[in-house]
Amino acid sequence: MESSEDRVEALRKANNLEDLYAALTPLDMTPGWIERKQPILWEQPDTPFEVMHWRYEECKAALDAAGRLINTDLAERRNLILRNPVEGNNIATTKTLINAYQMILPGEEARTHRHAPHALRVIIESEDSFSVVNGEKHPMETGDIVLTPGWCWHGHGHDGDRSAYWLDGLDVPLTHLLEPMFFEEHPEGFAPVERVTPDSPYRFTWESIQKRTEQADADPEGHFGRRVRLEADEMPTIGIYVERLEAGQTTRKFRHSANVVYSPMMGSGTSTIDDNEISWSRGDTFTAPTWNWIEHRAQEDTIMFAMTDEFLMRFANYYRFEAAA
Ligand SMILES: [Fe+2]
Repeated sequence: MESSEDRVEALRKANNLEDLYAALTPLDMTPGWIERKQPILWEQPDTPFEVMHWRYEECKAALDAAGRLINTDLAERRNLILRNPVEGNNIATTKTLINAYQMILPGEEARTHRHAPHALRVIIESEDSFSVVNGEKHPMETGDIVLTPGWCWHGHGHDGDRSAYWLDGLDVPLTHLLEPMFFEEHPEGFAPVERVTPDSPYRFTWESIQKRTEQADADPEGHFGRRVRLEADEMPTIGIYVERLEAGQTTRKFRHSANVVYSPMMGSGTSTIDDNEISWSRGDTFTAPTWNWIEHRAQEDTIMFAMTDEFLMRFANYYRFEAAA
């Protein structure tokens, strides 16, 4: 085995770059000045993540099929993950966010667990399903948004008589990147309900979302409709917006250095994300990866849900916003 003296001697003797590079290898050093297939710096964001669109109709059919074939005894969660088909990606929907459609059958229980990643649910179709967050029962009705910040115990149940469907959103890819992952199953399986909480900072009702977007100011620059940021201080990595677009409204094109996942909660329309035309309707999910141009055109009155790593980028002082000329 080469000694430290040998390595220093090799460096002393190196009088051409080839010798220097060879002498650096055993030191686990690499020159910063050489050409690389993947450069260290580049001019502007150039994400390999793709603009994607998942139609709720297809996702619902997929969940119904899963509902026939797998129960919650076998699966901690009956969910189908929206995987961006970028090479090498396993689960991420955008660089920092993951989304999944989930379904629970009447009478079923999805066992209680907790994890470091922050999570939210956009309820697409549900009557009388619920989440139990830290012992508090949170109703999940159609149009609600329910939060489970990192390390909150959460399980799901269903008192109604029709399957309930929702869209999950978490920052799991970010926790994979930064490595603070913790996960624990509840020792009791499904943790019992201790309190019923109709009014909770972790639940935004459909009624309140409609009212707040109606009362919000229009964006003077025209990039957004009447838009509200929902308060989620305990989960700062996921910014949550709900935005009202009137029938016939077209937003002014922009791009920004943040990833966004959109899901229309009401209405229909078309969005142009860079060169991709996406005709969406209620319950769909589509992505706007970082630095892609974004423009929405509402065909009907719309309320658009958006989750984004914008505030993470702002925290890091990386955030840039550019309006189209
Ligand atoms: Fe979970």
